[in-house]
Amino acid sequence: MFLVFPDSDAIARHLSARLVELIRNDPQAVLGLATGGTMEPIYARFVQQAKDSKLDVSRVSSFNLDEYVGLSAVHPQSYNHYMHQHLFNHLAFDEARLRLPDGLSVELEQHCQDYSDAIAAHGGVALQLLGVGTNGHIGFNEPGTPFDSRTHVVALSERTRVDNSRFFDSMDQVPASAITMGIHDILSAREIVLVVTGEHKARTMLNYQNGGITEALPFTALKRHANVHILLDEAAASLLDDQACRRVVQPTCA
Ligand code: GLP
Repeated sequence: MFLVFPDSDAIARHLSARLVELIRNDPQAVLGLATGGTMEPIYARFVQQAKDSKLDVSRVSSFNLDEYVGLSAVHPQSYNHYMHQHLFNHLAFDEARLRLPDGLSVELEQHCQDYSDAIAAHGGVALQLLGVGTNGHIGFNEPGTPFDSRTHVVALSERTRVDNSRFFDSMDQVPASAITMGIHDILSAREIVLVVTGEHKARTMLNYQNGGITEALPFTALKRHANVHILLDEAAASLLDDQACRRVVQPTCA
């Protein structure tokens, strides 16, 4: 079942209320965090709701999905910088509990293994936020990635580099590779929330609805997980069967 909201702001209000509730029930919650344009309104709402409700986030831990290889943590297009800009800098997080892959790591293979091991040591994250690329990638797991993959280095597809070039000054500045949690790591989350917004993702969602489970469309791995929620705006849901959609007219507000 797809949960369809009027727009991305309605999704953001619903999801940030869910995050506030989760952290209130478990102040030491371990979150799996994502980047991308889709997540920006969600983090903005969460920051606002967390401040309004004086939520204590000081013991929350997090693992981010991915990072570009070759970009330092403070590079303006790094995902580390994105997370500080949109979330971490606005609330009293404990920096030591916030993890992203290190794009400048020299021992990349060991770094990737350590990252997966750290996620496993927490028993997987409590809730994994996910977006999806137009080619169905999750994190940076491009089409063809094995579903049993752990954190690894990936050569980015041309499609993904073009999609993400809007965040860079020019196409040649988009890194050629990235570190990403593997699909196995993502599926180890106890709950997964996939957020899909915009008309440009409508066909991707149609392929998800009509297709089976295939490595050619990485996010179909989510069909193997028992606790996945897929939240869409009307534009992203526009090609889906009506019977498969539940419309959320009055989203939960904090
Ligand atoms: C990037 C990220 C993904 C993200 C995807 C979609 O490639 N690595 O984690 O889901 O882009 O991004 P957007 O939300 O900007 O469409």
